[in-house]
Amino acid sequence: MRAKAGVVEFLNQVLKSELTAVHQYLLHAALCKHWGYARLHEHFGHLAGEEVSHSSGLIDHVLYLEGTPDVEHLDQIAGGRTMEDLLKADLEFERDDVELLRKGITHCSEAGDFTTRHLLEHMMIDTEQHIDWFETQLRTIEQVGLAMYLAEHIQAGSS
Ligand SMILES: [Fe+2]
Ligand SMILES: [Fe+2]
Repeated sequence: MRAKAGVVEFLNQVLKSELTAVHQYLLHAALCKHWGYARLHEHFGHLAGEEVSHSSGLIDHVLYLEGTPDVEHLDQIAGGRTMEDLLKADLEFERDDVELLRKGITHCSEAGDFTTRHLLEHMMIDTEQHIDWFETQLRTIEQVGLAMYLAEHIQAGSS
């Protein structure tokens, strides 16, 4: 199916952001493991998996629209020296991602591409859940202190 004007370009921008998220969360999962926070390691691994599924959904959809998926570019990967640095960088990253999705959804509505809009809306639901998780972690740290928060995340388990 032929894409409406500008849709593939938007999808490739979103794909760049999703691929960046995959790399960023793989790095953050590994850092959590390295620092001994098994529970956070598990959660970042789960987030990386969700970003892989967003990326592959976008690649499939660009091909369906007879476009060329751009898998060769990434944005800058946010690192950090403390757990709090990572959580803050990831929250900012997810907020930027929501903005990009919002622009994509608006563009698809204006262009009359409701299938792509639907795909982006689904990704928006996951992205808002990611934001919520990062906000909750940072709020908990504010309330109980970093040491207590980290002590709770040494053991693996549901997070
Ligand atoms: Fe995503
Ligand atoms: Fe995300």
